[in-house]
Amino acid sequence: MQEYDKRGIRSYVLRTGRLSRLQKNALETLSDRYSIPFQNKHINFEKIFGNNNPVIIEIGFGMGHATAEIADKNRHKNYIGIEVHTPGVGKLLSRIDILNLSNLRIIQYDAVHVIRTMVPSGSLQGVHIFFPDPWPKKKHNKRRLIKHEFIEELLPLIKKDGYIYAVTDWEDYAEQILRVFNKFTELKNPYGNYADGIEWRPDTSFEKKGIKKNHKIREIWEIVL
Ligand SMILES: C[S@@+](CC[C@H](N)C(=O)[O-])C[C@H]1O[C@@H](n2cnc3c(N)ncnc32)[C@H](O)[C@@H]1O
Repeated sequence: MQEYDKRGIRSYVLRTGRLSRLQKNALETLSDRYSIPFQNKHINFEKIFGNNNPVIIEIGFGMGHATAEIADKNRHKNYIGIEVHTPGVGKLLSRIDILNLSNLRIIQYDAVHVIRTMVPSGSLQGVHIFFPDPWPKKKHNKRRLIKHEFIEELLPLIKKDGYIYAVTDWEDYAEQILRVFNKFTELKNPYGNYADGIEWRPDTSFEKKGIKKNHKIREIWEIVL
């Protein structure tokens, strides 16, 4: 199968949001403590977190409100948030510091490359992808992150009985996600279709915008066999 990013396709656009003073300050003073620079070798999660608790990756955390809340309520689990958007990274760095979240770290880089080079096989308990960029125009659909080739690379990194949890407010993307996941015999959807609202997930910023536009939220939960 053709490699999905050989033609330089990226699932994001780097927005040029202005940095608030808080975000700028957090980036300058907290990155060393809470960010993991992109590197061409595997991360040692045990060394980073000082324990071998389960590790969950979130791809595209945006401003990171939900990320920080989930990590805060689950101190017995470790979280890695991956995002390219600098203001969001600054914002989440400051939340990590305020809440003293020793179980959350950030990687500011394209997640496609992070999972390909930094994440060891069978090292993850779960993967969260909340409101991936929808790329709604037909001609842009190919830029969607959740596609067969990406999941093919992601699956070997997740432990048996681990999970992938994706949420979107775009109906045809939700259908695409179900179709993509259905093709993998290593995945089982315990709901058979969309999941009932998973009660522990806080609303995200992007979700609130979708709800204002009367978009229906669709959640997809898959277990790795
Ligand atoms: C629509 S926003 C949703 C943000 C957040 N999850 C929320 O629900 O508010 C999608 C986010 O994914 C990020 N993103 C998209 N593709 C990415 C990639 N390949 N690597 C890292 N981040 C990515 C974008 O920068 C953007 O912030």
